[in-house]
Amino acid sequence: MERRGLLLKAALLACLLVVCSGRGSVPMVKDPPSDTIYNSTLAKTLAEYASAIFTADLTQLFTWTCDRCGDLTKGFDMMEIIVDVENCLQAYVGFASDVNAVIVVFRGTQENSIQNWIADLLWKQLDLDYPGMPEAMVHRGFYSAYHNTTLRDGVVSGIQKTRKLHGDVPIMITGHSMGGAMASFCALDLVVNYGLDDVKLMTFGQPRTGNEAFASYFKRYLPHAIRVTNANDIVPHLPPYFTLFPQKTYHHFPREVWVHDVGLGSLVYTVEQICDDSGEDPACSRSVSGNSIQDHITYLGVSMHAEAWSSCRIVMEYTELQYKMDLYGNVVLSKQPDLHSVQ
Ligand SMILES: *[C@@H]1O[C@H](CO)[C@@H](O)[C@H](O)[C@H]1NC(C)=O
Ligand SMILES: *[C@@H]1O[C@H](CO)[C@@H](O)[C@H](O)[C@H]1NC(C)=O
Repeated sequence: MERRGLLLKAALLACLLVVCSGRGSVPMVKDPPSDTIYNSTLAKTLAEYASAIFTADLTQLFTWTCDRCGDLTKGFDMMEIIVDVENCLQAYVGFASDVNAVIVVFRGTQENSIQNWIADLLWKQLDLDYPGMPEAMVHRGFYSAYHNTTLRDGVVSGIQKTRKLHGDVPIMITGHSMGGAMASFCALDLVVNYGLDDVKLMTFGQPRTGNEAFASYFKRYLPHAIRVTNANDIVPHLPPYFTLFPQKTYHHFPREVWVHDVGLGSLVYTVEQICDDSGEDPACSRSVSGNSIQDHITYLGVSMHAEAWSSCRIVMEYTELQYKMDLYGNVVLSKQPDLHSVQ
């Protein structure tokens, strides 16, 4: 019995080594050491930041006293929360002393149930030329959610304020699901249109955002971007990749890190598999069917479930915080609202 267990363990270990240490067809020398590509601790930390944005009570979020605010994100200094009430979108910006970085987090729409939102993605077509990048096309909805709402200005001004206070520290942008798609557009925008450097992107369970031409531009400007995918999470499989039309289909940008369990019987390990630099590594999440919503709402052990789906209501003690509201009811909560006009 014992012997058999040992054999099993040895087999499992061998299997893990094969799975974890780069990938069969890709020569090992092609990639830098995996810990310079992907930092697992940082990923867990950013997952906690991405999760906090689902807090329904904005006062708790602003004062960083929410249930999800703590653990790896202790001591976070919130600078600004931007709520686009009209489109039911949200973002926040602040300073994390632990990682010495500006943190920017996006949340996508919560207007409908997650099931409806996912069903919609099945039918999405590429429909927008990406400015300044010939051949590149993107998903209009995700693009506009960042570029055509109050979020862009709010986030950029939040970053400027934070850097004014803390110096030119790195900017780490994150988000889950549609929030991850918006985070991607934001990261590219900051690099291409604002000329900022030290922009890092790590998203969780994001959908595809553009075609292959877009993905290759993306890789050029953000060579260290990470897209974490989880097991059979359905969303990274959407909008669908049509193998028959490689030029006309959506195509992920690299680099995916696929979190999944491997093992035999009771010996199960979770591995964070670093995928190739194609964006569509056939040995990563593409190797399984995307059939799980459950796998979409927990990442690295952190819940990404909204406290209140199907609602965009704002819960807030208006009197305690300084805020600005525009004509459409969109809100910017800020520590220093007066700085808005300075820039
Ligand atoms: C990974 O991230 C953690 C937390 O941000 C940091 O303390 C650590 O130095 C990083 N490790 C590497 C190898 O960069
Ligand atoms: C941006 O929003 C305006 C007004 O809501 C709309 O007319 C326009 O088509 C939008 N642009 C894109 C690219 O979605």
